[in-house]
Amino acid sequence: MKLAVVGGGSTYTPELVDGFARLRDELPVTEIALIDPDAARLELVAGVSRRMLAHAGHPARVLATSSVEEGVAGAQVVLFQLRVGGQAAREVDETLPLRCGCVGQETTGAGGLAKALRTVPVVLEIASVVRALAPQAWIVDFTNPVGIVTRALLDAGHRAIGLCNVAIGFQRSFAGWLGVEPARVSLGHVGLNHLTWERSVHLDGEDVLPAILRSHGQEIADSLGLRLGLLERLRSVPSYYLRYFYAHDAVVREQRAKPSRAAEVAALERRLLEMYADPAVVTKPELLSERGGAFYSEAAVALIASLLGDRGDVQIVNVRNGGTLPFLDDAAVIEVPAAVGAGGAVPLPVPPVEPLYAGLIAHVSAYERLALDAALHGGADRVRDALLAHPLVGQDEIAEELTGLLLEANRAHLPWA
Ligand code: G6P
Ligand code: MN
Repeated sequence: MKLAVVGGGSTYTPELVDGFARLRDELPVTEIALIDPDAARLELVAGVSRRMLAHAGHPARVLATSSVEEGVAGAQVVLFQLRVGGQAAREVDETLPLRCGCVGQETTGAGGLAKALRTVPVVLEIASVVRALAPQAWIVDFTNPVGIVTRALLDAGHRAIGLCNVAIGFQRSFAGWLGVEPARVSLGHVGLNHLTWERSVHLDGEDVLPAILRSHGQEIADSLGLRLGLLERLRSVPSYYLRYFYAHDAVVREQRAKPSRAAEVAALERRLLEMYADPAVVTKPELLSERGGAFYSEAAVALIASLLGDRGDVQIVNVRNGGTLPFLDDAAVIEVPAAVGAGGAVPLPVPPVEPLYAGLIAHVSAYERLALDAALHGGADRVRDALLAHPLVGQDEIAEELTGLLLEANRAHLPWA
């Protein structure tokens, strides 16, 4: 089975390769094509990937190429994990909104919009090459903002599913608190990518979330930087991305006082690339666990195994709403548990969503639609509309100012700006 990774020169790739090596019985990969425009970086990442596979006794060969055509031809699965503009563009996403008193984050708010504008056209161009040269392939999208990018792919008719590690991370954490195997834990996960709540935690058929909140509530609240009282009111556990909403002003103060995550990651990446260059490094470096993508290889392997093996098991993915959340457009993309088989992912029914956060989901979903419109068609008016519709921006004068700043800073990546 040939698998292609667009953005294969990412420092995350060894995480993925480690997953393929460990979970080889689930997924018999024979060829991994790493595709990346940055030849120097790709060589280092492909090198360590080859050594890792050899060390694990895995037979897959690694192809390193800058050609999307060569990389995707004949692939059964194509993973998208690219980052247009690299950490430098991310730095802008994380710092520029702060000038207007808004949170600086690469996947939500004004920063997330800038990332969507840069990313959607590139992803669609690559997807059309996939359609031409690997028409049966599944596209698994990790590229952020995953909700908007997945909707762009689906609207263009691609066989795509969006994936994020937030849900699998919670599954592992809850399993740890319960002292059980993660596979026994299933989550009542609902919302949009990076805007989700865990409303139930089923262990062998019983919802143990209330008990977990009693025994570990304070620890969970502390890890999210939120008050236990909030979790109790919500009767659910929000993802840490909700902190940008529930504690927006506090986050802005914190962000103003410390270096950006982009700067931290850039430093981490320099150290990781040095390790990847070292022929003695034959396993995934521990340092990689300092990135946010923990367990993403597990989620990817499970998803691909279910798509190719028609397993029909339940996984949490980004799919078309199709009436699952009746207060959203059918065409919206949501992040919920879905049955995954050869035909794709079919969302399971979701119990009615509490008004306490259904409105926020609807608000951000409408923003996502406008953001996609701006990414596809360009124009300052569309960008301003998307900012006005985002609950973390919302004010006219701020939307106006941010539109100018954001377009100016991203001009190199936006042919229309
Ligand atoms: C989590 C999110 C990803 C995001 C990552 C950032 O894994 O689910 O969507 O890209 O965090 O991690 P980083 O190490 O780049 O800050
Ligand atoms: Mn994510």
